[in-house]
Amino acid sequence: MGIKIKGAGAYLPEKIATNEDFEKIVDTSNEWILKRTGIKQRHISQGEFTFSMGLKAAKQALKNANVTAQQLDLIIVTTVTADFYFPSMSNVIQGKLGAENAIGIDISCACAGFVYALDMAQRYIDFGDGINTVLIVSAENMTKTVNYKDRSTCVLFGDGAGAVVVEKGENKAYSHLGVDGTQAELIYAHLFAPNNCFTEKEEALKNSKVFPNETGRFMFMDGPVVYSLAVKIMASSLKKACEKAKISPNELDLIIPHQANIRIIETAIKKLGVQKEKVYVNIEKTGNISSACIPVCLAQILKEGKIKENQKIGLVGFGAGMIYGATVFTF
Ligand code: ACO
Repeated sequence: MGIKIKGAGAYLPEKIATNEDFEKIVDTSNEWILKRTGIKQRHISQGEFTFSMGLKAAKQALKNANVTAQQLDLIIVTTVTADFYFPSMSNVIQGKLGAENAIGIDISCACAGFVYALDMAQRYIDFGDGINTVLIVSAENMTKTVNYKDRSTCVLFGDGAGAVVVEKGENKAYSHLGVDGTQAELIYAHLFAPNNCFTEKEEALKNSKVFPNETGRFMFMDGPVVYSLAVKIMASSLKKACEKAKISPNELDLIIPHQANIRIIETAIKKLGVQKEKVYVNIEKTGNISSACIPVCLAQILKEGKIKENQKIGLVGFGAGMIYGATVFTF
């Protein structure tokens, strides 16, 4: 039992914000951003809904996979920036696609979302009760959570979506997944404060203080601490996924890491002892689009014809939670 990736799609909004644009709004410079993060530009959604970006990527993935919406049995959407409390993104996308035979589930696993969704897709397919074709859509509107007065976070994030069609296949994907919830205060963005006619505003605000930093609806991130944890977690998680697959990290033909910071990627790869030519990086053009990073990379790699049949691929992600995970599979 196993899975096969049939096709992928990506959508990045047209509007681009360059490092030079950020020089005009916060005390920063192109040199600092490029040197400390590897980012040159990011795509910005300009109010477009998360599901709408996901839908565009999904349609492209279905076309590239030569699969119809009616053939889908399950749609998994990964996002930390859903448009609604309800309904779920997967239900909206199912309706817009006309995928009447598919059930839909949303998962919130931050930047590790795609890795968790791929693992989940395989488990559903393996269970053998009729789910054979799965669409994973990872769509993020990160710029909705960004505080454009906070130079340490606002330069990092962009918007976009990636989608992948997964079918039953010959090769098993081996995953290593983990969570350290004791570190949940390192990155967060609040949903709305309580707002009902029986609660005083002051009381509501007092009761809704969970984590220490006041950020309103914006993101908080302790960048340097996340940085040091991310470097260790990425290397060890991918190593453990390789151990499960009974290969060494060196045997991987291609590694697609979460695109948070080029320095995190380079340090983690050094720790693994893998050649950096095997690592796909597009952070320069997209910034961090949370769970959409990995499937957007996959769609670009497939379009560029950079993956060949039977090659071994490693995916690794980490993010708010702290949540992390890696998957190793044969293409
Ligand atoms: N421009 C200029 N200077 C800046 C900027 C900026 N945009 N941002 C911070 N600085 C300054 C700081 O104020 C500080 O100045 P000081 O020394 O005078 O106090 C100095 O640069 C160094 O700041 P650090 O925070 O130590 O910089 P660092 O090298 O750690 O880079 C960064 C910051 C890029 C945020 C890094 O820590 C990082 O990438 N962290 C991990 C982020 C991440 O991976 N997030 C993952 C998940 S996101 C999610 O799950 C939603």
